[in-house]
Amino acid sequence: MNRTEAAVAAHYTTGALYDRILGALGQMGIDPARARPADLKPGDEFHTGGVAATEALLDQVHITPDMAVLDVGAGIGGTSRYVADRFGARVTGVDLTPEFVDTANALNRLVGLSDRVTHQVGSALQLPLANDAFDVAVMMHVGMNIEDKRALLHEVARVLRPGGTFALFDVMKGAAKTPLTLPLPWAERPETSFLADADEYETAAAQAGFALTGSRDRSAFAEDFFAKVFAAVERDGPPPLGIHLMMGDSAPLKLKNYVANLKAGRVAPTEMIFRLTR
Ligand SMILES: C[S@@+](CC[C@H](N)C(=O)[O-])C[C@H]1O[C@@H](n2cnc3c(N)ncnc32)[C@H](O)[C@@H]1O
Repeated sequence: MNRTEAAVAAHYTTGALYDRILGALGQMGIDPARARPADLKPGDEFHTGGVAATEALLDQVHITPDMAVLDVGAGIGGTSRYVADRFGARVTGVDLTPEFVDTANALNRLVGLSDRVTHQVGSALQLPLANDAFDVAVMMHVGMNIEDKRALLHEVARVLRPGGTFALFDVMKGAAKTPLTLPLPWAERPETSFLADADEYETAAAQAGFALTGSRDRSAFAEDFFAKVFAAVERDGPPPLGIHLMMGDSAPLKLKNYVANLKAGRVAPTEMIFRLTR
């Protein structure tokens, strides 16, 4: 792990995460021993829009039960389990943050998906995986922590089979050029925040042999999502299970800053789908 990667992993490490998730399930009246993948959804999809965003992206991707899917920067595995549960595919998740990987594997066991979903520690820039091993790769809100987009796209291309699909949803640079308000859910300081715009992603992808098949700015969806989240928190207080469990004490400030940057046009959560042309 290089210095940036160590700083990123430290940023996402909050301690005793699995126990706190079990506690939250208990508060919701869910017996952890009987938990299903859907029960985890309020807190296991660490990106704008939660499972609704995952569903909207994957509605556009062809996945069948015989496929192998890679989840790049999988966090605690919400998207991985969604793919296995919805499509029946085998999923491998890779993530820098050991606490997230341990939590992901524990949650896979908890909801009975550990035969199809496994997570391991590793860098997206040096995936611990063989060439041509996956039919589809997904990546949800990870590129913001990775400066070298070109290396990232090359590495994903390496592990995809010829003609494979790469679907991503990242927070990208918006049109406004004013500095970001920090801290944000993915970074406390500018040293670990590396936003790029959609053109930069497309250029890096083309250099790695990908052709763009679809792209969608999700800013309006994101604003609507957060308006509903903030209204619910105002009314009922924070829910027991939520992505705030992965953001430490400054979770409310990080989310407030994210929405301020979104409204100011400094960030643009964007979907992109690529097909490998080799
Ligand atoms: C905002 S979280 C998103 C997690 C997950 N994709 C999700 O949507 O629930 C960003 C994740 O990217 C991971 N990450 C950041 N840089 C990475 C890198 N170079 N290699 C692998 N994982 C990385 C972090 O550890 C963290 O789990």
